Amino acid sequence: MKTEMLTEKDAERAGEILRDGGLVAIPTETVYGLAANALDGEAVSNIFKAKGRPMDNPLIVHVAKKEDVAPLVKEIPPLAFKLMDRFWPGPLTIIMPKSDLIPDEVSAGLDTVAIRMPSHPVARKIIEASSVPLAAPSANTSGKPSPTTAEHVYEDLVGKINAIVDGGACDVGVESTVITLCSEIPRLLRPGKVTPEELASVLGPIKVDDAVLHPLKDGAVVMSPGMKYKHYSPTANVIVVSGTLSDFRNYVNEKVLENKGNIAALVFDGEETGLNCKTLSFGRKDSDTDHANRLFGALRKSDELGMDTVYVRCPSAEGVGLAVMNRLLRAAEFQVIEL
Ligand code: TXA
Ligand code: MG
Repeated sequence: MKTEMLTEKDAERAGEILRDGGLVAIPTETVYGLAANALDGEAVSNIFKAKGRPMDNPLIVHVAKKEDVAPLVKEIPPLAFKLMDRFWPGPLTIIMPKSDLIPDEVSAGLDTVAIRMPSHPVARKIIEASSVPLAAPSANTSGKPSPTTAEHVYEDLVGKINAIVDGGACDVGVESTVITLCSEIPRLLRPGKVTPEELASVLGPIKVDDAVLHPLKDGAVVMSPGMKYKHYSPTANVIVVSGTLSDFRNYVNEKVLENKGNIAALVFDGEETGLNCKTLSFGRKDSDTDHANRLFGALRKSDELGMDTVYVRCPSAEGVGLAVMNRLLRAAEFQVIEL
């Protein structure tokens, strides 16, 4: 398949492809999404094929206006109105009971649907131009780090989808916060830019799902199917190393001496010296938003450079750092060295 390369000026063309049942990668404020008409089960099933995504992992539906939510759900829970008022448009996905309009391909057979209204102007223009809600998972090959630039999407999906809209680098860099209102107490299933504290300020008490920072126990029942898959992984083996900078340097330099393959260190700005290996940075040490913004790009870069192992300085898990830690632990398959 020929993949059309579009820009933000081509929202009408993107909308047309989507209306005709095609797949278009679109920029959002979080990561790039691979969009299809959410009301067209066949179009949606092509998303799973292009990504190699397991069919039991449901998709997020993207709308351009709050009014577009009502037909997609059985009812809008009162707390959802509060969340939408405070955080939409923006990087928050809300899970609600679904209506019959939502095909099984989107909800993966669940009786709920995940909905968000992105703030990215190009995403909004494309949803409007298509005149349908858009189902869109991250636009990467399943398992790989999510794409934060059009180039990342191209690497994974060229030839497999109808078009890519280049809207520049994504602002946030990690996927939206996912909260479900279909449990007794609202439950955070995936952390993102909207933090647990911000959610609690609107909702009162919430629960952070165990799977956010811990590996799933064998046979555990998951509320969000996405949590059971290996995720965000570059080809390189990722290992998180917690401790002081000097302990980190000593540890990594010893590993370099052992001479077992190509080693990189993912560090904070200004920490590149004193390491006898390739270094990558994910921004200022004290900036959780830098880490979110640069994590996936750095993991992809390590593959481009042919690295076998990447040792990562352990970032803070405060604020959007909880999302960074959640993605990083999965990329590392929970390998953490405490020095
Ligand atoms: O920022 C984002 O959310 C990006 C952009 C493109 O909007 N999209 C994204 O989609 O990250 P995806 O498919 O990569 O992640 C969706 C997550 C998965 O973990 C999935 O299991 C969960 O949301 N999810 C979707 N529908 C659900 C439902 N009805 N119940 C529980 N979890 C659901
Ligand atoms: Mg994804």
